Amino acid sequence: MRITFLVDNLPHPTLPLLTEHGLSMYIDQITPNSSLLTPNSILCDMGASGAYIKNAKALGIDLNACHWAFLSHAHADHTGGLGKWIAQYGHIPVYASHHIPALQCYSSRPKQVASHKSSFGHFDKLSDRILLTESTKRLNDSTTKQQEFDSPERSDLRYIGPDLNLFHGHTPWFKPIEQNTWLTPHIALVHPTCNQYPKPLGNKYLTVVEGQCKVSAEASLLDYAEPQPDFMSEANKVASQRFNDSAIQPERSENDPFLHEIALCFVTPKGLVIVSCCSHHGALNTIESCMEFTGCNTLHAYIGGLHFVDSPQVEAETTSFINDWLTLYPNAYLYTGHCTCPRAATLLKAHLSHCHTFYTGNVVEV
Ligand SMILES: [Fe+2]
Ligand SMILES: [Fe+2]
Repeated sequence: MRITFLVDNLPHPTLPLLTEHGLSMYIDQITPNSSLLTPNSILCDMGASGAYIKNAKALGIDLNACHWAFLSHAHADHTGGLGKWIAQYGHIPVYASHHIPALQCYSSRPKQVASHKSSFGHFDKLSDRILLTESTKRLNDSTTKQQEFDSPERSDLRYIGPDLNLFHGHTPWFKPIEQNTWLTPHIALVHPTCNQYPKPLGNKYLTVVEGQCKVSAEASLLDYAEPQPDFMSEANKVASQRFNDSAIQPERSENDPFLHEIALCFVTPKGLVIVSCCSHHGALNTIESCMEFTGCNTLHAYIGGLHFVDSPQVEAETTSFINDWLTLYPNAYLYTGHCTCPRAATLLKAHLSHCHTFYTGNVVEV
């Protein structure tokens, strides 16, 4: 199986590919010598914009070859390119959680603008979404970092969900997933349900409001009757106004339980290959859930961000993960990047001999 990282936070060292805070992977050569009827190419996630489509073309990849596409969860850095996908590849099915069309996701994590700059400076619409808030400025003061991490302010909430307009009306491309599913005898979509291991500390910034009708009716948060020309910027604008006005009360939202997160799981002769793009449930919980569903107890490779965001606790969080990984899966491969912050990635690579950090345009064989 071959994985091409079409877009990621890290730039390619030499090629002028687009880079953004987002993730998209093209997975092909899934089954060697497969027949034309056997799915052999999948798009996994669509980044924050249409950058993955441009990069695929630059890399000589024809996305029309995809048998299907898959969205790992609702966040905009994975679903932001959906509109462009539908416009160009709307005949290809997109599998995603059935929760996604009825979710509004918010983040209270202050944007660290500097961390999103690529060496090529290419950003589509991402820069439109960067809000320089008071707490962003305060974060530069190290004495307040711990306090900010412990008590993120809800007044700083930003919309980070999908463009919900895309799910209205006729959506033949959308294949909602409600439960763990075998797409083929060797490819499964698995909801992580295990809670045995810690979940990423960075989840504390993430909030979900379920049921768009309830919120939009009472708070006029978003009017879906007419398509919004720019859903994301409009949602951001309205969200910040409404939260500042306390129109949406904190008790009406909750920390995201990530029911919309699904792992893509391949059963291979070497063991499981698991793709979980942000690992909001925690990579170890995700692996355990995949093993339970598939009945395969060998992990060959885990691919995805670990959502170890930069925080005062990130070194302790990563060290604890490393200890568990070495105990449970000492021989497995870990390919990580995206929402695994540089400090965490450095620690992982120092202690795990089979750990690799991916980047935009990177091609790996697993
Ligand atoms: Fe992400
Ligand atoms: Fe995410």
